[in-house]
Amino acid sequence: MDNNRVIIFDTTLRDGEQSPGASMNMEEKLRIAKQLERLRVDVIEAGFPISSPGDFQGVKLVADTIRDCSVAGLCRAKRGDIDRAWEALRGAADPRIHTFIATSPIHMKHKLDMNPDQVLEAAVAAVRHARSHTTNVEWSAEDAGRSELDFLCRIVAAVIDAGAATINIPDTVGYTLPHEFGARIHTLMERVPNIHKAVISVHCHNDLGLAVANSLAAVANGARQVECTINGLGERAGNAALEEVVMALRTRRDILPVTTGVETTEIMRTSRLVSTITGFPVQPNKAIVGANAFAHESGIHQDGMLKNACTYEIMTPESVGLNTNRMVLGKLSGRHAFKERLSQLGHDLTPEQLDQAFQRFKELADKKRELIDEDLEALVDEAVVRQDYRYVLERFHVASGSADIPMAAVEMKIDGELHKGASWAQGSVESVFNAVKQIVPEASQATLTLYQVSAVTGGIDSQAEVTVRLELDGRRVQGQGIDYDVIAASAKAFVNGLNKLARRNGRDKTAV
Ligand code: KIV
Ligand code: ZN
Repeated sequence: MDNNRVIIFDTTLRDGEQSPGASMNMEEKLRIAKQLERLRVDVIEAGFPISSPGDFQGVKLVADTIRDCSVAGLCRAKRGDIDRAWEALRGAADPRIHTFIATSPIHMKHKLDMNPDQVLEAAVAAVRHARSHTTNVEWSAEDAGRSELDFLCRIVAAVIDAGAATINIPDTVGYTLPHEFGARIHTLMERVPNIHKAVISVHCHNDLGLAVANSLAAVANGARQVECTINGLGERAGNAALEEVVMALRTRRDILPVTTGVETTEIMRTSRLVSTITGFPVQPNKAIVGANAFAHESGIHQDGMLKNACTYEIMTPESVGLNTNRMVLGKLSGRHAFKERLSQLGHDLTPEQLDQAFQRFKELADKKRELIDEDLEALVDEAVVRQDYRYVLERFHVASGSADIPMAAVEMKIDGELHKGASWAQGSVESVFNAVKQIVPEASQATLTLYQVSAVTGGIDSQAEVTVRLELDGRRVQGQGIDYDVIAASAKAFVNGLNKLARRNGRDKTAV
């Protein structure tokens, strides 16, 4: 293996999904996994198979579908976890078992109630058992950032002897500083005699905003795998953001002479997809993928940019997939051009999905003169992802004005049967939601904990994208809707959320 190649291990579907409110269903996970494959990450961690039947199915679906990346599944240092993970992963082109156990004094004493020798024994047994399934075994020392270095060196040597091919050193609680974390990796490289037999990986959390800096410090000291997530999603303050790690390595090759295999022009699309599916917006000033990341506002900056873009731009917007190959479609565009563009964007739809998306395209093109890639992606979301099953919104009507009480009437099919509801509220959106509640009992029982509107593109003629979060009996789902009309988008998002609640998939998880 090229010693200057850094393996990019994406854990958006596992650690990212642990962000409160970011849970995804199987279709959504698969959609993100396919996009990660286009992004050319090396490893996709698809989930934690023992944690729930839904997670098991999600990991299996990703493992059975993805061919160009390794697919990993997380498991504790327990035979049952490992066997369940293997069951989910075995159909993958390159399956990886990822087993972990905590190694810090705090975790060993208070969480595991085990002494260091017992932890070492359990880690070695877990790796040996995982090796009975595959040679592609990764072992993680949870809370390595706060583990005693002597013990860390001892246990790392033991699990490499047991057959672990990748050793992951997480800063689980985001506690370390870059020079300290870099030194930790340096010590492991110096003191563990068999370290050359494994790839050293890092997995940094962002509690102090240092996850990317710590990951880079680790690479400078010999780590050759970085675990990260799209948009920095993840437990608490999140993980190292993939797009920041990858672009830092690419932009500063003069200081860190390493490469990744990532197709950086797919970064923007991946970021948008993850944001749409999880309902986690990207802050405008977020590095690399924020709406302002390449915007130049001040006169001096604009002047400099016009003279030479290098004055204020350290990387081009095109290199992350912004402003590239923008083909504008309009109402005169035909089905062939539409299909062609979707396929260039990586969407090969079935004939029925294409019919549905093309019909929506024509309707939208009547209202909006020019449709760009973001509009098309939104249409595909509707045609493919937001399939509504139990509840189908047929039509609605809202009457409102500055002096009137907003009133709404809706017509919906429930399991194929037509129902009508009407209601009022303080605002138009709420009046539609209340009308839905008249006919769907689950809608009244659920609590709406998030309602968010964003514009798909710039300009007054942008489509609105609405995300709602609904909670019921401990389950939490995100519903999305897109429409030219913000009330219609809201109604679609609400009904989409209700459909997800209706599709109970046993997502109550074992906590990591
Ligand atoms: O943060 C962490 O330590 C983890 C491990 C399970 C790899 O997510
Ligand atoms: Zn983590």
